[in-house]
Amino acid sequence: MNMLINGKKELKGQIEVSTSKNACLPILAASLLSDEPVIINNLPAIDDVEVIIELIRQLGVNVKMQEKTLELTGRPEQAAPPYELVRRIRASFLVMGPLLARRGSVRISFPGGCAIGNRPIDLHLKGLQVLGAQIKQLGGDIIAQGKLKGGHLYLDYPSVGATENLIMAASLAAGTTYIENAALEPEIVDLANFINSMGGNIIGAGTNIIKITGVKKLHGSNYTPIPDRIEAGTFMAAAAASRGDVTITNIVPEHLKAITAKLIESGAEIIEAENQIRVKGPHKIKPLYIKTLPYPGFPTDMQAQFMAYLSNAEGSSIITESVFENRFMHVQELCRLGASIKIEGRTAVVKGVKKLEGAIVKATDLRAGAALCIAALMAQGTTIITESEHIDRGYENLVEKLNSLGAEIIRKETKRCITV
Ligand code: UD1
Repeated sequence: MNMLINGKKELKGQIEVSTSKNACLPILAASLLSDEPVIINNLPAIDDVEVIIELIRQLGVNVKMQEKTLELTGRPEQAAPPYELVRRIRASFLVMGPLLARRGSVRISFPGGCAIGNRPIDLHLKGLQVLGAQIKQLGGDIIAQGKLKGGHLYLDYPSVGATENLIMAASLAAGTTYIENAALEPEIVDLANFINSMGGNIIGAGTNIIKITGVKKLHGSNYTPIPDRIEAGTFMAAAAASRGDVTITNIVPEHLKAITAKLIESGAEIIEAENQIRVKGPHKIKPLYIKTLPYPGFPTDMQAQFMAYLSNAEGSSIITESVFENRFMHVQELCRLGASIKIEGRTAVVKGVKKLEGAIVKATDLRAGAALCIAALMAQGTTIITESEHIDRGYENLVEKLNSLGAEIIRKETKRCITV
């Protein structure tokens, strides 16, 4: 699917952020921890959420979707999620912890997802071993078995996914588990709140030591996950890049501090209220120094969008990617639009240019696609983003939302030969 964007349109107006993809995925996986009805509200209509729901359905859970509300009922009948779904999103690996806790065994292939470097799962596996799982590898699959008991875990790195998987596994383990050097992301807090709403006993989520006291059984729940801070950040960057004036609603300002600080430093004006934020783009974009870090540091999931924004700054910015290796695939595509970016190891030097110009570019992953949208909004003329379906993995109605702010974007089926 192609996305055609006519640039140089100032974004103006108000936009509402959808529910967080990265909160919904672990929460949906955690629904496997209970047989009783679990109701999740306000699910975003995005591909990653659809894939994990289908995966849960294929495990034998009864799934009923009405508008944006999902009801899940029943025990997972089997513990081997289909390869075809697992390879599509990395987060499918999050069913490992709950399946092991519920069924005493799980067989799952190595996860897929965004092509952003080597993404090992050693921390997930080491943690599950400490909780008593025996783990072996067989024909591209991982097989874990065993009755789980509480344990003392120390993560070498505060991995979001490992923290989530281990919280879920420990919730039904016998005894108490401590996760040290746990990830601090708001999505971890949301997962813990969800499990506690099912009768779980998790203390300390949002700090680097989480205590999980295993319970015998978790019951049903009716839960609404948090808003998507990365979608909000993307709209903030798009508003500033287009030199527009946009109010973004349904947000938690606390979750956006790193992004807000960098936008202010770049010259944008930010007006915060309880659950909304207004961004007025700067006349001239000041260059920035950015280093991606685990929360509350600057999010790696916003790195590409800020690089697009800064490609039009007055001066040179330095962006260091410390969370993932090889997360600079968007650089080459931004350069096709006229950006001047050099990469040295994990650092990109972005020399601001006066103008970007429309071109044909390729979305290589979800956030790279979002970055290209932002660059296209700043560019003169028309940009065609090919493989834009990557964007649908994580943004609900992005085209409709940006168009409601004054953007000019259309979607077109991909043709082999593109004539402009
Ligand atoms: C989650 C988010 C993703 C975000 C990332 C970092 C979801 C569904 N995805 O991904 O959008 O970019 O957090 O904020 O929530 N690592 C290991 N061994 C492991 C696990 C991770 O070395 O066992 C490394 C990774 O290769 C990476 C770093 O740790 O370099 C961070 O990964 P992690 O925090 O686990 O990210 P995800 O949970 O995959």
